[in-house]
Amino acid sequence: MASGQLSRAEALACSGCRHACHVMLYADTKAQLFGRIPIKHIILMQMRFDGLLGFPGGLVNPSEETLESGLSRELSEELGLALPISVEDHVDSCYAPPSSPSSSSRLITHFYVKKMDEEQIREVERAAASTAADHGLEVLGMVRVPLYTMKGGGGLASFLSHSFIGNARSQLVHSMLRLNLVAPGELHKALTHSLKTHA
Ligand code: GTP
Ligand code: MN
Ligand code: MN
Ligand code: MN
Ligand code: MN
Repeated sequence: MASGQLSRAEALACSGCRHACHVMLYADTKAQLFGRIPIKHIILMQMRFDGLLGFPGGLVNPSEETLESGLSRELSEELGLALPISVEDHVDSCYAPPSSPSSSSRLITHFYVKKMDEEQIREVERAAASTAADHGLEVLGMVRVPLYTMKGGGGLASFLSHSFIGNARSQLVHSMLRLNLVAPGELHKALTHSLKTHA
C-alpha cells in the first residue's frame, strides 16, 4: 500500500476520525466528438459550491451508517438517485492532509469506483440536474472528464489544470491509469502539459 493509505478495516478502527466517501462513476461509450474524436469513456465529476472539482459523495458517520450506505445517502442528496454502493466498489482509504493545524479530528477519505452503462450515466445526469436536493446548492453541476488530447493540448490537459478538492485530482489520475481509461503515455503528456498551463 502507498504511504498514507490504510485498509478499510484500519480506517474504521479510528474512532476519533471523521470519514468521507466519494465515488467515480464511469461508463464506456462509442460516441465521437465532432464525429471523429472517440470519447471512449464517460467519467462523472462535479463542480462543487466552493468552485473546486470533486467526486460525488460526502461525510459519513460510521456510528450511524455503513460507509457504503452513507455514500449511497450522499448520492441521493447530490445526484437525486439512490445508487447502491457495495464493499467491492471500494478502492482505497487514506488520511486527508490536515486542512488547518488547529483542526481537531483527522479526516479519512474513502474512494470508490463504480462502472455503469452509458444510459445509466445519462439517467444520473438528468436526475442530478432536476430532482437532486443539492442541485444549485452544494453541487453546481455534474461534468464529464474529456479523456482525449486535441492539437494544442486541449482536452485532458486543460481539464487537469483546474483546481480540485483534496486529493480528487490524484484519485482521478490513478483511476484512469489503473482502469486503463487513458494510455499511460498520453496521460503522462497531459499531466506534464497541465502543470505548464496551471495558472
Ligand atoms: P456537507 O453536507 O456540507 O457536509 O458536505 P458533504 O457531506 O457532501 O461533504 P464533501 O463532499 O464536501 O466531503 C467532505 C470532505 O471530503 C471535504 O471537505 C473534502 O475535504 C473532502 N472531499 C470532498 N470531495 C472529495 C473528493 O472528490 N476526493 C477526496 N479525496 N476528498 C474529497
Ligand atoms: Mn453532500
Ligand atoms: Mn459532497
Ligand atoms: Mn453531507
Ligand atoms: Mn449536505
